[in-house]
Amino acid sequence: MKKTESELHIFYETAHAELASALEMLAACKATDSSKQAFGYFMHAKDEYNHARTFLKMLSNRGKRASIEVARNFRFTSPSLITKGYISNKGFLINTMKLKDFIAFVYTNELLAKSSFGNILTLVGHGTEEAKRISEIMTDELRHHGMAKKHFLNHYPALQPWHLMIYRIRETINNKGRKIYDKNSKFLDRILTPLYKTMAYLAGTIAKKLNLNEYKRKGKNLMNISPNSIL
Ligand SMILES: [Fe+2]
Ligand SMILES: [Fe+2]
Repeated sequence: MKKTESELHIFYETAHAELASALEMLAACKATDSSKQAFGYFMHAKDEYNHARTFLKMLSNRGKRASIEVARNFRFTSPSLITKGYISNKGFLINTMKLKDFIAFVYTNELLAKSSFGNILTLVGHGTEEAKRISEIMTDELRHHGMAKKHFLNHYPALQPWHLMIYRIRETINNKGRKIYDKNSKFLDRILTPLYKTMAYLAGTIAKKLNLNEYKRKGKNLMNISPNSIL
């Protein structure tokens, strides 16, 4: 059961990352004036949607094997793309970053994605149907990485490979930061949930003890009610 739970966690996070990439690519598609670039971003978004769908399917298969209590922690809802930090609440990257940084971001992230899928491949077991699908996704990510690299070096030929390496280190740190943020919010959730439940219980107990008869307005002239009345 522990294995299923850690797999649920991995597929849950990966589905978020893939869906966030799809939305970022669609935003970039909308923002560009070049029809050639729009086509590239659109095809990239389509791939990312398909990747997200694959991981959601793998998540659902494992969710069926887990207990309801465990599975409900991995129910996918799109607002968590923002609350978990996969999409910034300040806007899409294409709107908040310089174009150069955006392309470098895509370049580095595609490579990081490809290497993390290598670990997932080992997790699902080589030679399985799932492994075959993950290998296809890895090929897609490498293609995206290659496209971003070409685009980047065409537009910014003065940049050296070490510039890209700095981008990559920065992204690795950001990814780690996102995991720490996620852990912290889960920790706060564990502390605050019992507090909210206690407050809701107390509010319910007080409401039950209130005599609401004095607030009955049926048959009364509303003009005679004190203006300070809350009802
Ligand atoms: Fe992807
Ligand atoms: Fe990708």
